[in-house]
Amino acid sequence: MTQQADIGLIGLAVMGQNLVLNMTDHGFKVAVYNRSPQKTEDFLAAEPENTHLIGTYSIEELVNSLKAPRKVMLMVKAGEVVDLFIDQLLPYLSEGDIIIDGGNSLYTDSERRTKTLQEKGIQFIGTGVSGGEEGARFGPSIMPGGNSAAWEAVKPIFQAISAKADNAPCCDWVGDGGAGHYVKMVHNGIEYGDMQLIAESYHLMRYGLGMSAKKCQKVFSKWNKGVLDSYLIEITAEILKFTDKDGEPLVDKILDAAGQKGTGKWTGISSLELGIPVTLITESVYSRCLSALKDERVKAQAHFGKPPKPLKLEKDDRKAMLKAIHDALYASKIISYAQGYMLMREAAKEFGWQLNYGGIALMWRGGCIIRSTFLGEIKNAYEKNPDLSNLLLADFFTKALEDSDENWRKAVTFAISQKIPVPALSSALAFFDGYKTANLPANILQAQRDYFGAHTYERVDAPRGEFFHTDWIQSGGRVSSTTYEV
Ligand code: 6PG
Repeated sequence: MTQQADIGLIGLAVMGQNLVLNMTDHGFKVAVYNRSPQKTEDFLAAEPENTHLIGTYSIEELVNSLKAPRKVMLMVKAGEVVDLFIDQLLPYLSEGDIIIDGGNSLYTDSERRTKTLQEKGIQFIGTGVSGGEEGARFGPSIMPGGNSAAWEAVKPIFQAISAKADNAPCCDWVGDGGAGHYVKMVHNGIEYGDMQLIAESYHLMRYGLGMSAKKCQKVFSKWNKGVLDSYLIEITAEILKFTDKDGEPLVDKILDAAGQKGTGKWTGISSLELGIPVTLITESVYSRCLSALKDERVKAQAHFGKPPKPLKLEKDDRKAMLKAIHDALYASKIISYAQGYMLMREAAKEFGWQLNYGGIALMWRGGCIIRSTFLGEIKNAYEKNPDLSNLLLADFFTKALEDSDENWRKAVTFAISQKIPVPALSSALAFFDGYKTANLPANILQAQRDYFGAHTYERVDAPRGEFFHTDWIQSGGRVSSTTYEV
């Protein structure tokens, strides 16, 4: 076989197939391979006119059909399968060839793969690809990281097939090692947060205010024309429009037990490991876990009694409450993104990545699941001040939070009084209040730790880093402290 393909792709599931067609649309020749040959045959048979497609039936044939440096992209299940394919590829690859993993891999795996492959002279790229089937077909958001030496060879393909926002590709180099997959993981965490916020807002409308699915749909459609304009709000409105065979909203027939594949959980784990309070995303993961305990919840409702009936408000009051819910959603979304960016900043420090925060906002601006107008504002904030320490301190977001403050509290108070759980909306508010409180009650925690475990504490009237211990029991309430050298 002549070496004619620009890139090879392994794994012809939905995402893989769509990415391949996107590449051939842009004039790239793509060699494809799938573990089951039938899938390759079916795929080729469905594309009889596509002269840019090359079917291959062994790893060797795939590799031999590629131009040097060879680029092989894996679109297979994250985890062990990626390592299995890498092992199968290695005997056929030469120094400088590139393996790309486009699945939702754990960033530590990508970190490891970059290192071990580099030692073998093979360049590795671990890339986030977001946007589902349609994104993959017509323009996903692509977040590549790994071995930077490989980027120039892959860039023309990735930037051509990616979504565009303000004429710029939603794809750029993220950073070394696992940086691409880390940023994709945070993207997914934010996706969980956005979805949970929307679900809580819907819950308030539907069961707090007693609105029909159709009325909720109208509200979401309206919101999609303002500051909340985003893919997830848009599809929520679409979903609420959908009816089942009996004419009832399909959403009412869907069991309220959420699934998850793990990327939100990884974001929560990473936030705990790095000590960054990414409360909203983590609450969103827990909300999915709580929703999955369907049987227990049904029993508990029978035990504790039903939540109150929806509150029937006068038209103007209902309008005002809807505005409050809108503002609560918007403000909480700002908190969620600020937390996600805090996490990325800390991870960059920890792993030695040079992350371009405005660039990441641009990559998420189009093509991906969290695409929104809002991300344009984040990009602007970092463009104005690349050293911005926290998004909440950017003028635009400070003002948005101040403008939403009263309504945010109103919506959360309403939820509490109606016994409607709003963990994301309320934990975002608790974070905001905590973040801007100069004196928190952690002095009590420190005293308790010192009391029962001699864990020591710092004093407000001594330099940071100087630690004290009080013999709380022996001194009987009198001052008695000992300074420790740290
Ligand atoms: C994307 C999505 C995608 C993710 C699904 C399902 O960016 O296109 O994030 O990568 O796998 O949204 O995720 P959960 O099953 O964990 O909800």
